[in-house]
Parts: sequence; structure tokens; C-alpha cells
Amino acid sequence: MADIAPSLLSADFANLSEEIRKVENGGADYLHLDVMDGIFVPNITFGPPVIKMLKKITSIPFDVHLMIDKPERYIKDFVDAGADILTVHVEATTHLHRTIQEIKSYGIKAGISLNPATPLSSIECVLDDIDLILIMTVNPGFGGQSFINSMIDKIKRTRRMINESNKNILLEIDGGVKLDNALELSNLGVDILVAGSAIFGAEDITKRTMEFKDLFVK
Ligand code: DX5
Ligand code: ZN
Repeated sequence: MADIAPSLLSADFANLSEEIRKVENGGADYLHLDVMDGIFVPNITFGPPVIKMLKKITSIPFDVHLMIDKPERYIKDFVDAGADILTVHVEATTHLHRTIQEIKSYGIKAGISLNPATPLSSIECVLDDIDLILIMTVNPGFGGQSFINSMIDKIKRTRRMINESNKNILLEIDGGVKLDNALELSNLGVDILVAGSAIFGAEDITKRTMEFKDLFVK
């Protein structure tokens, strides 16, 4: 059984509060917020001011995924904006350990994310310090891409690594998650499934969120 984190990236940006209400009514466990800077990834989305406003209109925990270069420059801004989980990419920060420590110092959960081509060995040395590992199952930057099948093995190895560490670390995956592969992916031991286009691209967003949730109650 996995939690569902709808990714706002595929929502109607002109009606964000209504879009959030729809996934809230569908039982979403987290709201996944993709921050992009046009440098680490080709796309640009939104930053702390928008997140801060959205925080006022919902009580869903905010899972903030930073796809920005040198995220250490903005940790406090995203904490102040209301992030409950703050995830940085290992490829984007030179002093990963220090960046994680800073996130933790604010009393929120620290996550680290790996691009599809980044080996798991890059995070071995920080397992003691993190709360979440986000495995990218597409190349970050855009919604609506296809799940990269070779990531299945990486997910399994990450699960094993977490189990062997005996640490309380959540495993999240992001990219290409649809209704028809969500259960199979969850069965690999994934704790949080991010789904963007599969939820916000649906005609009835609330119903689609419920359909994801229902996969795990049967
Ligand atoms: C991609 C983002 C994802 C994106 C996923 O860089 O990190 O969160 O919204 O979109 P889907 O679910 O459509 O693949
Ligand atoms: Zn994301």
C-alpha cells in the first residue's frame, strides 16, 4: 500500500486552489510541488511565494521537489513557505551532507532525489541523515513522460538498501506513474507514488484520485 502524491505540475495553473481542492476531496496523502529553475532542468515553474499562498488553502502535507541548481541557496525560503518534506537532487548540490543537515535543522523531513542515470552508491554515505529517497523514473523537467522500465531494478535495489540500513526512510518514485502500473510499482515496496498527468489530466480529478487510492484497499 502506497500513499498518493498528486503532482501539481499537470494542474491548471490558473485555478490552483480549485485543483488542490479536487485532489484533497479524492483523499490525496501529499501534494507534490515541482520547483524548476530552467537550469537544472529546462523548465521553469514556481517558487516560495506561490507555495506560501497555497499552504494557506489546504492542510495536505507539502512534498516539495526542488529541481534547482545549488538548492542550498533557498532551503530556508522553502521551509518558511511551508514545505513538510523538502527534497533536493544529489546532482545539484556539491555539499549534499551539509544541505541535508540544514533542512533537518528546521525540523522538517529531508529527501534526496536521484536522476535515472545517477547510481545508488551516490547516497550510501548519507543514509543516516535522510528521511526520504526519491527515485526519478523519468528524466526530470516535464510531466506526461513514459516510465523508464529499467528503473524497476533500481527501485528494488533502493528498497533493499533501505531495509538493510534499518532506518526509517521513505521510498518515493516520480514519473510515468499511471493507474495501470501503480499497484505493481507499489508492490516493489514504494511508500509514495507521485502522479501528475495521470491525475490532473483526468476529466474528473477527484474520481481519479479516489481510483488511485482504491487500488490499495482491495
Ligand atoms: C517531473 C516531475 C514530476 C512530474 C511527473 O520532472 O518531477 O513530478 O509532475 O509527471 P507525470 O506523473 O505526468 O509523469
Ligand atoms: Zn516531482
